[in-house]
Amino acid sequence: MHSYNVLKRLAQNVAVPAMFVDLDVFDANVHALAKICRDSGKTWRPATKSLRVPALFKRLQKIAGETQKGWMCFSIFEASYLHAQDPKIFNDLLIAYPISTEPEYEEAFKLLERGCNFHLMIDSPAHVNELSAFLRKKSTNDKRSFHFQVCIDVDMSWRPLGLFHLGVYRSPVRTIAQFKEIFLEAQKSDFVLLTGVMGYEAQIAGLPDCNRFNRWQNPIKSLIRSFSKKHVLRWRAEIARFLDTYKARLRFFNGGGTGSFEFAAHDPSLSEITAGSGPLQSQLFDYYCENTAKKILRPALFFALPVCRIPDHKRVTLKSGGFVASGEVAPDRYPSLYRPENGRIIGSEGVGEVQTPLCVPDSSIYKLGDPFFFRPAKAGEIAEHFNHYVLFRDQKVEEIVPTYRGLGLNFF
Ligand SMILES: Cc1ncc(COP(=O)(O)O)c(C=O)c1O
Repeated sequence: MHSYNVLKRLAQNVAVPAMFVDLDVFDANVHALAKICRDSGKTWRPATKSLRVPALFKRLQKIAGETQKGWMCFSIFEASYLHAQDPKIFNDLLIAYPISTEPEYEEAFKLLERGCNFHLMIDSPAHVNELSAFLRKKSTNDKRSFHFQVCIDVDMSWRPLGLFHLGVYRSPVRTIAQFKEIFLEAQKSDFVLLTGVMGYEAQIAGLPDCNRFNRWQNPIKSLIRSFSKKHVLRWRAEIARFLDTYKARLRFFNGGGTGSFEFAAHDPSLSEITAGSGPLQSQLFDYYCENTAKKILRPALFFALPVCRIPDHKRVTLKSGGFVASGEVAPDRYPSLYRPENGRIIGSEGVGEVQTPLCVPDSSIYKLGDPFFFRPAKAGEIAEHFNHYVLFRDQKVEEIVPTYRGLGLNFF
């Protein structure tokens, strides 16, 4: 699939640099993820941050049908924008990262007034108190009564013997006593209602164990993944038991990511799974043994950069290209050359700010304007570099749709 000549013909119809999405592959990836969810009796809450293209949200929603339930947004302003676009499609919005500033509280209040069903993330009594104080102030000026729906974010990192921290640094909630403290604080407040729990196992979902860089680390990462799976299952079950004991009937227990999708789907404590990158299958997700072995997801996202000069017979220089992904500084954060296959990024230059040179076996076969195709390491943040995505099927451009950036939107 995706031979160089096919992609090159496709690129002739649009101005490059451009980003391309293969709709057949996108649709098949969505079907595959939705099936895993359906088969395990769970729903799918897609992460918008990993797509950032409203037309792709709607496409996903149409294909996944009833299995898709709610969205995981990354910003309250984003949630507000989406809800205003279509309150039927964009409802049940989980804002996955806590809000903490006055403009964010005000935006959340506007969303409340518009009747949107959304959930704010909390992980400390301080979050409960801040949200409550804000609404208390609002209620004194306003006769109506309001409450924020909230979700407790629980740290899923694995801390063997308390000596190491294998995971990310987000939520401080690591024991049932800490969970209980926030739970009771939320129960005491008239201004918040606990509706969900999130336990995102970042050290599994974000730890590729089949990486072609630093191969020697793969067995260690595999071990961390498998030991932390046991820890995560136990810890989420403990929280579920606690909620049962207190007869707390929450709306959802969220977990999972593209890198841990099947694992999370089989966890009986969870009611729903999140994945955002999976439909596009950006490069980093090829480095997970599970996915590589089963080939569940295939790459649907590529960008094309044109040759703008030819420095010598072994090199071409492309326009643009500095799309290094976030995370630990490492070679796997670079985009990878997809088509043609025989070329490589020059180590001493990397991907440039406005020009990217490549080593090729013979530069004389290329001419100015010829496109080179890359896969981005991550699926979402690359959308901040392109105004549009070119959606194609069967070698033909079907539609050109705006990204958040193309719509003039920049969410934090
Ligand atoms: C809270 C949360 N859930 C799930 C995910 C998984 O997203 P993806 O499927 O794009 O890896 C992320 C990604 O960082 C996240 O922050």
